[in-house]
Amino acid sequence: MQPLPKGAQYVTDYFEDTYIRPLKSRRAKRFQMWYLFKVMSFILILGTTRGAFRKQRSVNPEASMNISQIISYWGYPDEEYDITTEDGYILSLYRIPYGKTNSENNSVQRLVVYLQHGLLTSASSWISNLPNNSLGFLLADAGYDVWMGNSRGTTWSRKHLYLKTNSKEFWAFSFDEMAKYDLPASINFIVKQTQQEQIFYVGHSQGTTIAFITFSTIPKIAERIKVFFALAPVFSIKYSKSPLIKMAYNWKSLIKFFSGSKEFLPNTSFKRFVGSTLCPLKIIDKICRDILFMVTGYDLKNLNMSRVDVYMSQNPAGTSVQNMLHWCQLFNSSHLKAFDWGSPDLNLVHFNQTTSPLYNVTNMNVPTATWSGENDLLADPEDVKILLSEITNHIYHKTISYYNHVDFLFGLDVYHQVYSEIIDIIQGNP
Ligand SMILES: *[C@@H]1O[C@H](CO)[C@@H](O)[C@H](O)[C@H]1NC(C)=O
Ligand SMILES: *[C@@H]1O[C@H](CO)[C@@H](O)[C@H](O)[C@H]1NC(C)=O
Ligand SMILES: *[C@@H]1O[C@H](CO)[C@@H](O)[C@H](O)[C@H]1NC(C)=O
Ligand SMILES: *[C@@H]1O[C@H](CO)[C@@H](O)[C@H](O)[C@H]1NC(C)=O
Ligand SMILES: *[C@@H]1O[C@H](CO)[C@@H](O)[C@H](O)[C@H]1NC(C)=O
Ligand SMILES: *[C@@H]1O[C@H](CO)[C@@H](O)[C@H](O)[C@H]1NC(C)=O
Ligand SMILES: *[C@@H]1O[C@H](CO)[C@@H](O)[C@H](O)[C@H]1NC(C)=O
Ligand SMILES: *[C@@H]1O[C@H](CO)[C@@H](O)[C@H](O)[C@H]1NC(C)=O
Repeated sequence: MQPLPKGAQYVTDYFEDTYIRPLKSRRAKRFQMWYLFKVMSFILILGTTRGAFRKQRSVNPEASMNISQIISYWGYPDEEYDITTEDGYILSLYRIPYGKTNSENNSVQRLVVYLQHGLLTSASSWISNLPNNSLGFLLADAGYDVWMGNSRGTTWSRKHLYLKTNSKEFWAFSFDEMAKYDLPASINFIVKQTQQEQIFYVGHSQGTTIAFITFSTIPKIAERIKVFFALAPVFSIKYSKSPLIKMAYNWKSLIKFFSGSKEFLPNTSFKRFVGSTLCPLKIIDKICRDILFMVTGYDLKNLNMSRVDVYMSQNPAGTSVQNMLHWCQLFNSSHLKAFDWGSPDLNLVHFNQTTSPLYNVTNMNVPTATWSGENDLLADPEDVKILLSEITNHIYHKTISYYNHVDFLFGLDVYHQVYSEIIDIIQGNP
């Protein structure tokens, strides 16, 4: 196994020392209270003095915008649809129906490209860079009808027909349900709305995981996919070195304590504050980066530091604690499995068998193109190797030696390394 890259080692240690070790003390309960108090005081102090720092650095206006606003800010047409899954969750779908350079022919039937974000992010993943480096805008300008999904539990998909968002029942889901309900609902809706027989699918991270599950278990949906583009694909995480997953694995009980077993890293005013107010301050910059890149590893050379405020204000976009626990269950396993509900009886209720079933990707026949990074802590090269050997209809693969998990979204050269190739393949498959 490779040693941890230097940056990652630093982030893990830093985070554990600063935030976690104090909580592990014998007087854990009292410590937790004290810790929360300290954090709150820190925020309050900064909150009242921030005027003094305000001129430190200009903030990009997108840092305080929602998805529709960002799309129209750059002059693109935007549409939003609320769709309902079979189990009652209401999800937001965003659409850029055509680009800036080809609006004349907007009655023409355009091929559809669907973009699915990964763990702890949202549809903002595809529109957070400048338009010349954001996949959503690039595809619209290349003449495609772009749709962007939002998994249940993210900032933009927090409604349900019957369940209250603050109920335990609402948050009782993991990526199993995203694959079983969210993806089919989104794809069926798009196909119906656009009258297209088939669409292109691009997923990043967990957005590839749910696609592998859906396309290998629901043939009717798989038939709808012309080509599946998998960026930083995640299927098993046996070798994953992600500090966040590792930490979550070690600190399951703490996560539960802090989030009351519901939402993980929610959109609270605290998080927005971190993104739009803390990051412009030079001293705090480092902490902001650490939190963001703790998830995935990072490479400062390939990141536009002047846009970190946008990335931070849109991410993390939230998921359920159960989803994080599901990833933790897989941490040491070389196979992707459904969520283990914790007892044979409960598993029997959910799966009609006492253990959680394996997902087997060899059943999937969708033409698949993959891009992976050798510096990716989450989608580790060893895990990717296992996955690639199981993809039956593999049409293209590229390994980028210096890429980490977020370079596929925010890398300064992501257009040249990845997006231009996606567009080429789409154009070659009309
Ligand atoms: C986004 O912001 C606009 C303008 O404030 C608002 O009209 C719209 O409802 C917002 N959308 C969401 C999903 O919050
Ligand atoms: C619009 O479509 C027509 C017919 O398909 C084509 O001849 C024309 O070049 C298109 N215009 C633009 C600006 O793409
Ligand atoms: C996008 O535009 C910016 C500003 O004009 C430029 O600095 C950057 O190199 C461009 N990026 C790409 C990928 O073309
Ligand atoms: C996120 O939280 C802020 C502050 O609590 C709130 O104003 C905003 O509407 C929230 N956004 C969403 C999409 O829930
Ligand atoms: C980096 O981001 C800033 C702020 O959005 C932008 O003005 C600049 O053009 C970007 N640089 C590149 C190389 O994309
Ligand atoms: C991972 O699995 C191996 C054997 O399969 C076991 O020896 C090891 O203790 C496990 N590690 C963790 C952290 O569970
Ligand atoms: C549950 O499993 C049993 C035994 O494998 C099988 O006979 C039964 O049909 C299954 N029930 C459902 C609803 O799939
Ligand atoms: C997946 O399915 C194939 C063919 O059905 C089988 O050969 C293989 O052993 C299965 N893999 C796992 C991990 O169950």
